[in-house]
Amino acid sequence: MAAPILPVAEAATDEEAGTPKPRFLEPGAAPYGNFPSYSRFHPPEQRLRLLPAALLRRLFPPGGPDPRPLLALDVGCNSGELSIALYRHFLSLEEGEICPLSTKDLRFLCCDIDPVLVDRAEKDCPFPATMSFVTLDIMDPQTREPLLSSFLNQFGRSAFDIVFCMSITMWIHLNHGDNGLLAFLAHLASRSRYLLVEPQPWKCYRAAARRLRKLGRHDFDHFRSLAIRGDMANCVIQILTNDCGMELVCSFGSTSWDRSLLLFRANQPSEPMSSL
Ligand SMILES: C[S@@+](CC[C@H](N)C(=O)[O-])C[C@H]1O[C@@H](n2cnc3c(N)ncnc32)[C@H](O)[C@@H]1O
Repeated sequence: MAAPILPVAEAATDEEAGTPKPRFLEPGAAPYGNFPSYSRFHPPEQRLRLLPAALLRRLFPPGGPDPRPLLALDVGCNSGELSIALYRHFLSLEEGEICPLSTKDLRFLCCDIDPVLVDRAEKDCPFPATMSFVTLDIMDPQTREPLLSSFLNQFGRSAFDIVFCMSITMWIHLNHGDNGLLAFLAHLASRSRYLLVEPQPWKCYRAAARRLRKLGRHDFDHFRSLAIRGDMANCVIQILTNDCGMELVCSFGSTSWDRSLLLFRANQPSEPMSSL
């Protein structure tokens, strides 16, 4: 019998709700969380309202010792809506406003494993001079290292000023297991001065696995054997602070779908949370 049909957009809601409504796309079409239209279900605004627009200016004050431009990496950018919204937010640009030269203080490299999503992001991006979108499996060191290094080398740098890791940890964890999650976080920590992580809570893992089972597919390879489980925000904090030389600078609270926004800093003394 033909496989049931699932709208990928609704699959995105199912990442947390576990309520797929079969309709028109191949099931399992988003094994990496590569949902088209993800931002329609998890709008960037809900994350942005938790993040101070002045965050980067506070972390890297103009006139301070930090080299310009500031370099940002967005890992798992999907079709770029959140990346572009973050860029506008931190430069305090209004919708439709074109980035003037004087604000070219910020460069974004955005990557995703799904080339179709990356193509769309590239086509729709209003800031092609300062935002780049590339197809990259962040778990593949052979492609990752030359790509990230070549971007950073253009600016004579070896690490990003800030890395965004938004709603991707679960997909790395489900597809690569505990060791994959540990390697992923260790790699991001090694490449960033600041790291903003929005981990999916454990209930999302159960929902993702349940959805696959309902569709008659096997669980994600690693789901049942994961030892890192439970309070995922706390697990990410423990891994980054105990194993990766980072410290938690600030928790910006939780989105309406119960995901924390956690800001970490590499090997530097902590600043008071109130300064953010
Ligand atoms: C749930 S979406 C989150 C999109 C966006 N960061 C946001 O929060 O709105 C997760 C994204 O991570 C990407 N992804 C998953 N595994 C990846 C990998 N190994 N390398 C790069 N991107 C990956 C997926 O293709 C998907 O677009």
